[in-house]
Formats: sequence, C-alpha cells, structure tokens
Amino acid sequence: MSILFDENKKLFTLETAHASYQMFVNAYGFLQHLHFGEKLGGGSCEGLQGTGFMSFSPAPDVAGNDYLASPDLTQQEYPVFGSGDYRSHCMAVTFADGGRNPELCYQSHRILTEKPVLEGLPGLHGSCETLEITLRDRWTDLQVVLLYSVFDQYDAIARSARIVNHTGAPVEINAALTACLDFPESGFDLLHFWGRHAMERLVERTPLTHGKICVDSVRGTSSHQQNPFVIVCDHAATEDAGRCWGVSLLYSGNFTACAEVDQAACCRVTMGINPTGFSWHLENGESFQTPEAALVYSGEGLGALSRRYHKLYRRNLCRGEWALKQRPVLINNWEATYFDFDDEKLVSIAKTAADLGVEMLVVDDGWFGNRFDDNRALGDWVVNTEKVRGGMKSLCDRINALGMKLGLWFEPEMISEDSELYRAHPDWCLHVPGRGKSRSRNQLVLDMSRKEVRDHIHDMMHAVLSSANFSYVKWDMNRHLTDVWSAELPAGRQGEVYHRFVLGVYELLERLETEFPHILFEGCSGGGGRFDAGMLYYHPQIWCSDNTDAVERLEIQYGTSFGYPISAVGSHVSACPNHQTGRTTPFHTRGVVAMSGTFGYELDLNKISEEEKEQVRAQVKQYHRLYSLINDGDYYRLLDMTQQKDLSAWEFAAEDGSRALLNIVYAHVRANCPPPMLYLRGLTPDACYRVTDDTGRELGVWTGAVLMYAGMRAPIPQEARAYGQTDYAAFQFELERLS
Ligand code: DGJ
Repeated sequence: MSILFDENKKLFTLETAHASYQMFVNAYGFLQHLHFGEKLGGGSCEGLQGTGFMSFSPAPDVAGNDYLASPDLTQQEYPVFGSGDYRSHCMAVTFADGGRNPELCYQSHRILTEKPVLEGLPGLHGSCETLEITLRDRWTDLQVVLLYSVFDQYDAIARSARIVNHTGAPVEINAALTACLDFPESGFDLLHFWGRHAMERLVERTPLTHGKICVDSVRGTSSHQQNPFVIVCDHAATEDAGRCWGVSLLYSGNFTACAEVDQAACCRVTMGINPTGFSWHLENGESFQTPEAALVYSGEGLGALSRRYHKLYRRNLCRGEWALKQRPVLINNWEATYFDFDDEKLVSIAKTAADLGVEMLVVDDGWFGNRFDDNRALGDWVVNTEKVRGGMKSLCDRINALGMKLGLWFEPEMISEDSELYRAHPDWCLHVPGRGKSRSRNQLVLDMSRKEVRDHIHDMMHAVLSSANFSYVKWDMNRHLTDVWSAELPAGRQGEVYHRFVLGVYELLERLETEFPHILFEGCSGGGGRFDAGMLYYHPQIWCSDNTDAVERLEIQYGTSFGYPISAVGSHVSACPNHQTGRTTPFHTRGVVAMSGTFGYELDLNKISEEEKEQVRAQVKQYHRLYSLINDGDYYRLLDMTQQKDLSAWEFAAEDGSRALLNIVYAHVRANCPPPMLYLRGLTPDACYRVTDDTGRELGVWTGAVLMYAGMRAPIPQEARAYGQTDYAAFQFELERLS
C-alpha cells in the first residue's frame, strides 16, 4: 500500500521508496499540505509547521477569528484566488453572479488501484495507486478533483486537477494550474532551463528571493525559451547530495512555473497552464481537466533526481513499440541537401550510408507539393514527383532494397499562403477576421482546434504514410503562435483557443500513432522548441536542437539531461565547418557527443573522406555495442557546467555496476592547465575494473572504490593527437568489471 489514510487525524500519506507526501484536512475542512520529502516512517507532521499569527492574513468565515487558520499562513494543496491566500494560486474562477472567492473544502476521497487516463491529455501510465480527493466549494456545487498517482520506485507523484461545475449556472475559469508545492522553508535555489532557437535548455541556478521568480511561455508551445520543468533544491545541493524537488509538466503549450517566497519565508512552487491568454467557459455539468505534472523528490542530490526522471519517463511516459526498443541509426538529408535533392541524390546518400552500417534514411523538408524553398507548400502533403520521381513507393522500395528503413518529415500544424491548401481554405489559419496576420518563417499556423482542419491534414498524412513502407516520421513545428482566434468559438470564448490548439495536436498525434503503431515518431520544433514531457508521451524521441555543433551540444544536452532521458535526445553527427557556428571539430568528437542521444548522421556521406567513412563504420558498431549501457544505464554528470564550460564529462554505468562508459570532451583548450579530477560513479567499490581507451588500449585495472573515491585525472587534450586535432578533443573510456 503506497497510500494511507488515517481516519481519526484525516491524514493522507503517500509513500514512495525514499519519500513521503503528506496532507490533512484541518478542523475547518480545508485540505492542507504537510510534507513532500524524506520518508516519515508513519509519523504525522501536523501541528509543527505553523508560522504563527501575522496581521493582515484573514481567516475564512468558518474559522471566525482563528487567524492561525488563514489560508495565507498555512500550506495548501490547491490554493485558490479570492480565498484570503494572497500568494500564487492554482485556480481562479468567476461564478455566474460575478463572485470570485470559492472556498474549497474536503468532500470525499477514493483510493484507486490504477492510474486513470486523462482523456485527450498525456499522462504517466503503469501500475500504481491513485488517490482521488474531491474538494467542494463551501457555498456552491463547484468541485475540484485532485489526483495523486504514486510511482513509488521513482519517488514520483503524478498530480492533476479537474474542475467540475455542478453550480447550476456557467462558471468562467480564469486560471487552472496543475499543482502547488508548499514548503515551510525557503533556503532554496531554483534551476530552470532557458534558451533560444538553436541553444535550448541552458541551466540557470538562482537563489530564491522574497517575491516570485516565474518562468513561462505564451508562445503557444512549451518553447525554446523556457522549459516546463523546474527544480528547487537546497542551496548546498550538488549532484550527489542535498534535497531536490523536480516539477515537470506533461504539456506542450503555454505554461507557467512560479517559485515564490512569502512574508513568512515559506516557499511555494506552482506549475500549470499559463493563465495569460487563457480562460475557459464551463457550463453546468461540464468539467475541465488540467494537464498532469510529475513531481519527483531526491534526498541524494540532482543526479539521483535526474536518474529518477529518466527511468520514470522512459518506462512510464513513453508508449508504444518504440518506447524501449533499440532505435535505428539514421541519416537525415536536411543539412546534407536542404531543399536541393531528388530521388537519385537520396539513393546515392543512402547507398553509402548502408555500406557504412547506417540503418535508416530520413527524407526531411522538401519532398512535397511545390516545396523548393521555405516560402511555400506547407499543407500540400502530396509527393512532388519532379523530386521524388516514381513517387514514395518506388523510393521506399529502393531504400528497403539497400537494407535500410525510410522515414519522412512533416510539419502538420502549418500552412503556407502559397499552397493549394491555402487557396482552397484561406480561413483555416489562425487569424482574426479583419486584421493582419503575423508571418514567421514565411508561414501561418493552422487552427488545430478545428476538427475539419485536423481531419483534412490527417487524411493527407494517412494517404502518404499508407503509400509505402515507412518506419519513421519527423513531426516538425517551425513557428510560434500569433493571431490566436478560432472561427469555431464565440467572442467570449476565444481564451480557450491556445489550449484547444494543444488538445487538437494531441488528438491528431494519437490518431496517426494508433493507425501506424510500427512507425517511430520523432518530435521537433525548430530543433528543441517543444521538448517537453507532454510530447514524450507521443514521441519517444525529440530532435534536441537545430544546433548540431558538437561543442554547443555539450551544454544543450547537459541541460536537457536534468529532466529527460538520453533515449529522448535526438542527436546527429553533422558536417564541418558546422552550419550553425562555422566551427570545425574532430569527427571523433562529433561521434562521442551524438552517441549520448539517439545517434544518427546529418551530412552528405559521399562528401567525407575515406578515413571519416571508416570512423562512421566504427561509430555505428560502437553505438550498437554500447546501446543498452547508454539508454538503460544510469547517467551521471561528472562536472558542473554552470561553473565551468571548458570541459564536459559524463558517465553511463550499468545499473548492476558491471560496466561503464566515461565521456570527456574539451570545449576549450588552455595552455599549461591541469585538467580536473574525475570521480566515477555507480561502480562496485570492491570489484576490479579494466579501463580501456577508445583506441582499444588498456590503461590498467583499478578497484571501483579507487575510481570513485580517489578518482582519475581527465586526460590533457594534447593526448588526443591520435585524432588529428587537439582542440575540441574527445575521449571515451570503457570500464569492465572483472570480478
Ligand atoms: C527545422 C528542423 O529542426 C530541422 O531539423 C529541419 O527539419 C527543418 N525544420 C526543415 O525545415
């Protein structure tokens, strides 16, 4: 039993392997949060955390003058606006009479032996217990149903809320966030993951201060600029020690994550759909389901927190055939050809790729309609037979005959003005009648909240995907939303369009993925602009960034690793000078970096040297050999890139400690500067390990304890002369347990 209820104390305790989550119903019927952290071993922490009386914090009517019961001074589970809690809230509603002060009280609860599916939304799955608590407004029949599913192995709680209107009249929802986490203290840092196109998820660590630090998106997608994942941790927390709490939203649209320190020096973290631009009209009898958030606790530092997310998301978020299956090493033609290709060029790249061991060709943007550049044809999902002569079936047969699979790029949510689709349906894009339309990358956005629009795109994609033996789809999305207005909804309900857009995208994804269960879907949004846990439910891998420079990727993949598994990180070896930065890095380094992801190539393999071709052959073999270590093993960040960026080092260790892979990449070479010591992790202390470098040379045999606690010095970059270039040198060491 992972969910306990003490009837006398009205106390709920959720138990995971290392943590407890506790809340109780107070004397006035309000649900108060007590604890999420180290295991309490059956004890209750009620009565120990009150901050004392503070003037100007009001008591609810039912509590008379008992100001200690003020919602402003007590830890809440689902704080509401207008109730006397002046901190960040999860819910704000307007009743039919204009009143805006619901008072949510405990009504009932149930313990379910499974994880309920949230209709139309992504969610964790797998065996678990779920606590469902129903709260009811003291004055009307507005209910909020809180769900808590316990994934005990990963110290994770999946939370969501459902607002149900039985008031007998419509209710306007002004804010409906997913979860709140209240702490009786605030000596914390916040880690968030900011960025821009081609430089996503850079870690920023900042101490909390009085007031709010909010990260958010109003771009219609989760965005390159911020990620719907934050961590709060002790100031002193490191990779290996300290308390850390992760809050990750399974949602791909506008979000807000807010960390607030209040007047009593207590901290509140809220996460959910961004209320900016949002409203929802709820008729009597209707309900609104928020997206889900995955809350994970680690008392053993940031590294353990990440490893818990990696396993949880790999096993209990990603679905379908490809969730855990070995993914093919692919060659994508985007940076090889851009729009300038035909079937002969594709087949010639594929021939070389097949010879080198690559397993799949992905035909990127430009195969359809009149798409010779990015000014046109989005929405015309019909093969261009000038480019792909003989059509897709013929191309696919030729690729399959080489022993390779074939994949295809789509950008289903978009429309070009120069397209057959736009000429036929100029009203299908997001726009406000009588106003101008904002363009971005020369394109407009389809109104995915409309079923007829989705049906049309579905039918076109279905026809293409049924026409040949496709194994993979890259689902791209190359602009953010503007002119967010839908012809489907009356003026007063336009605040629903952002969320309905996301629900529409999810619906289309679900439909196509159900129809084509064998196809591996990879998400993408101008690289990693929609790299979120919501999308991971539909695609087990996401193109991590349009920046393929191995050195830049160090930071991008480092940041991504805090909340997302390696098997999700789309990563390719590309040509040099790199197309985004102009930098030239060794081929070897590019392989080492791309291998810490889904691994593939994105360059014209006919244009590389014979020696580089040999490296491709060796890299593919090595990736296959190390696949399960990289994807099923434990991932360790060995150096803190928020402190220094000269060198990156990370390790994969088998869960049973039988083998490990150490990766080291120099981003900056300095003269006469000793490299840092590296302390390995995840080894068996008293076992011996043979350490081999990536040329196959044995370095020696040491015990796990020596390698972990005494450590080894990183090699100096000059030692990488074997690869012809010391700048941006990379090293891999394999460790094999001998006894
Ligand atoms: C943006 C993606 O991130 C790229 O990989 C490529 O697919 C282009 N779009 C194609 O337009």
